[in-house]
Parts: sequence; structure tokens; C-alpha cells
Amino acid sequence: MDIILLGPPGAGKGTQAQRLEQQRGMRQLSTGDMLRAAVKAGTPVGLKAKAVMERGELVSDEIVSELIDAELTAMGASTGAIFDGYPRTAAQAASLDEILASHGRSLDHVIELEVDEDALVERITGRFTCASCGAGYHDTFKQPVVEGVCDSCGGTEFKRRPDDNEETVRTRMAEYRAKTAPILPIYEERGIVSRVDGMASIDEVTGAIDAILG
Ligand code: AP5
Ligand code: MG
Repeated sequence: MDIILLGPPGAGKGTQAQRLEQQRGMRQLSTGDMLRAAVKAGTPVGLKAKAVMERGELVSDEIVSELIDAELTAMGASTGAIFDGYPRTAAQAASLDEILASHGRSLDHVIELEVDEDALVERITGRFTCASCGAGYHDTFKQPVVEGVCDSCGGTEFKRRPDDNEETVRTRMAEYRAKTAPILPIYEERGIVSRVDGMASIDEVTGAIDAILG
């Protein structure tokens, strides 16, 4: 089963994708995570993407589609993919169709996380992740069980994203409204879109997604 999690910055795409990985053995394909890894490693892609991401704008369609294609090539055919933060433009949506077809795959569900944008700024500015394993946390909504220790791997170092400040978040939201939200009708026409209340608790959102995936 291949699915897209769609929603603005801070909607909970990464949080829910990590849970689906753990509970269903699916694989999270986050272009944001791939780009951050490229920036950290200083690859040519990372060098191109760094400043664009810090401004909160979108990197080029070609770059992200190539990243997705490479990941799918490396992945087993029987493992379901969770597209997180991709596609983000009409051109990326068209590329995804071609890439999936070339791998003998197709989309089963597009799940839109519906959220109140004003509340998202608090979510994003409070976010931090484990520096070792990437598990996600939040200052208010999801602290590690033992303060300063990662629930998943026991790591004690955490990090925050450079684009998680209020000004950049506003640009990221504007990009979502202008370029990403308009791709939803493509999937609505195919009858594969479901909507989930992304303002509910993390567990409730997981339950609603479970009900859709069956
Ligand atoms: P990306 O990494 O994809 O960032 P984003 O879309 O802005 O989304 P976020 O990761 O900020 O939010 P999320 O929905 O994953 O929320 P999370 O689960 O962490 O992209 C970053 C940048 O890379 C882009 O700006 C662009 O430059 C570039 N890029 C990436 N993909 C691209 C593409 N395809 N094309 C072009 N450029 C691309 O949750 C947020 C916080 O809230 C967490 O702390 C979490 O614990 C908490 N939380 C989650 N759910 C709940 C809940 N239900 N209740 C309370 N708290 C919650
Ligand atoms: Mg994310």
C-alpha cells in the first residue's frame, strides 16, 4: 500500500509517518528529511538546497523527484511507501505518477491532515528531535518520558531545525497554500482523498488514519 500524507508545515505528517512505520512496517519517504541529510553531508544537492530551505521556499521539482525515485529503487516492492512532504507541486504530482508506474506501484490513499494554521506556529517552534535516531518530540505536547532521554533509543542529544522560526514558518505556509494545496483536486478526481482532523490529539489522528487504511 502506497499513501501520501498531505498537510501544511507542522500538520503532523512526520509524526504519523513514524507511527505507521512502527505499526505497519511501511517506509516513511520524507523529502524534507532527505534534503536535511544532504545539507548535513554537504552533497551537491545539499549545497543547492540549504539556502532555499532556510528561506522556507521550495527546492526544485527535479531534485526531489530524483530523491524519491532513488529511494523507491532501493526499497523492496512489498514495502508500502508513505510519502511525507512530497509531492508539493503539480509537476511533482505528475512525476510521482510516472515514478510509481515505473516501479509497478500505484497510490492507494491521499490523507489530508486538516489543521488550523495559527496553532501550527506553536507546534513548529516547540518541535525537537533526537539527534541519534530522529524520533520527534515537542516542548508542550510530547516530551520524552524521562526528561533529556530519547524514548526510542536512549540518546541524550536533541536538535531543532534551522527553518523552525516564526518568519520562515510563515513563508513555508504561504508556499503550501500557493503550490501544494492546489494539487488536491488531482487526487479528488480519482476518489482517493480522505480527510482527518489534524487538530485532534496525536493518538486520535493515528486512530483516524488506521480506520482509513483498514
Ligand atoms: P519538510 O521537512 O517536509 O517540512 P514541512 O512540510 O514544513 O513539514 P514539517 O516537517 O514542518 O511538519 P510535519 O507535518 O512533518 O509535522 P510534525 O509531525 O513534525 O520540508 C522542509 C523544507 O524542505 C521545505 O520548506 C522545502 O524547502 C524543502 N522541501 C521538502 N520537501 C520538498 C518538496 N517535495 N519539494 C520542494 N521542496 C521541499 O509535527 C510538528 C510538531 O507538532 C512536532 O513537535 C509534533 O510532536 C507535534 N505534533 C504533531 N501532531 C500533533 C498533534 N496531533 N497534536 C499536538 N502536537 C502534535
Ligand atoms: Mg516533517
